[in-house]
Amino acid sequence: MTQPSPPVDGRPRLSTLAVHAGEDRQKPGHALTDPIFCAATYSFANTQAVIDYIEQKQARDEYGRYGNPDERVAERKLAALEGGEAAVLFATGMAAIVGLLMAKLNAGDEVVFFDECYHRSREFCVKHLSRFGVVTHQVKACDYAALRRAITPRTRLLISESPTNPHLSVVDLEEFVRVGREAGVETLIDATLGTPYNVRPLAAGVDYVLHSATKYLAGHNDLLAGVIIGAAEKLEPVRRLRGIMGSINSPHNVYLLLRGLKTFELRMERHNANGLAVARFLAEHPRIEKVYYPGLPSHPYYEVARRTMRGFGGLVTFLLKDADWRRTARLVDAVRLPRIAPSLGGVESLIEQPLVMSYYECTPEERRQYGIPDNMVRLSCGIENAEDLIADLQQALEQV
Ligand SMILES: Cc1ncc(COP(=O)(O)O)c(C=O)c1O
Repeated sequence: MTQPSPPVDGRPRLSTLAVHAGEDRQKPGHALTDPIFCAATYSFANTQAVIDYIEQKQARDEYGRYGNPDERVAERKLAALEGGEAAVLFATGMAAIVGLLMAKLNAGDEVVFFDECYHRSREFCVKHLSRFGVVTHQVKACDYAALRRAITPRTRLLISESPTNPHLSVVDLEEFVRVGREAGVETLIDATLGTPYNVRPLAAGVDYVLHSATKYLAGHNDLLAGVIIGAAEKLEPVRRLRGIMGSINSPHNVYLLLRGLKTFELRMERHNANGLAVARFLAEHPRIEKVYYPGLPSHPYYEVARRTMRGFGGLVTFLLKDADWRRTARLVDAVRLPRIAPSLGGVESLIEQPLVMSYYECTPEERRQYGIPDNMVRLSCGIENAEDLIADLQQALEQV
């Protein structure tokens, strides 16, 4: 067996971890990079080796649905980046959410979540967990008094994103954890928009941190992945259920994820810089009604963000002034650099009008309830040059 790389100076920083953490120093074939293990199953030398594996005397792979060598490297790297003990990697971010909730909850249990969230997470809780007898309560994002009130003796989990998608509200993680601990309830933060560069939920005492690694962690809009990070013991039932659900990621994808992670810190520096520059530009523009960006003093969670975040991310949400949905769509169609697409956090800038993308199926009443006006635009700033992005937005705004 080869040894893991030692820490570079005893206290490796994020970019060092992004490059080295989780990897063996010597790899098969003396390759510098981890090979892709294209194996559905793993063979045993003899029957005693099978017995040793089952009796947990030997750590190794058995069948691809339970794990593979690439996935383990990625899990160690992601756990190191997040500052957690263990990570469980999934095929997608949604598979991670579903896997965690299915592993942790039983009929009769209750969960409480802040209402600003990725609409499919809400849909799973409200429409599907309910079919298994789990009750979900939604409370207004960042309303800690409402969160306390919603807790009952049956509550098992408090859930939030931070920052939230697409309003970019920022959870006061210490307050969130306090509410959970006072009630003896575990906490989950979906930090997809925050990333381990900008927010550190585990350090604040959160039990589980979840990411759609499809976004900033992988960073190149070329794969789907999800991960949950936390204490190894608490994650063990999640890992076991993943082996039954079959929601493991493929070795090919994991190779791309590992490759993307190498530049994680560099990319985040640019995403943060571009997000801030674009948000400031939009906030000053006469055709913009409102900008949601936690790095702007006008944002309701600016103080919390300044206190708890290292940077504010690449996502900027804004409202076009005096615009109905068609005029807003004309703006989206007029930009030349960002591509019209769902998702966020990749090197390419992406733009979407939530009304016609993620929230098209919702009724106007539901969109009002979720805070999605017709003139809302969500822009995920990639790593292009900020001046080019701003010049492009300027020319597009002149056309509407
Ligand atoms: C905050 C958040 N969580 C979870 C997900 C789901 O991730 P995936 O698309 O990788 O399943 C998304 C996807 O957009 C998201 O924005």
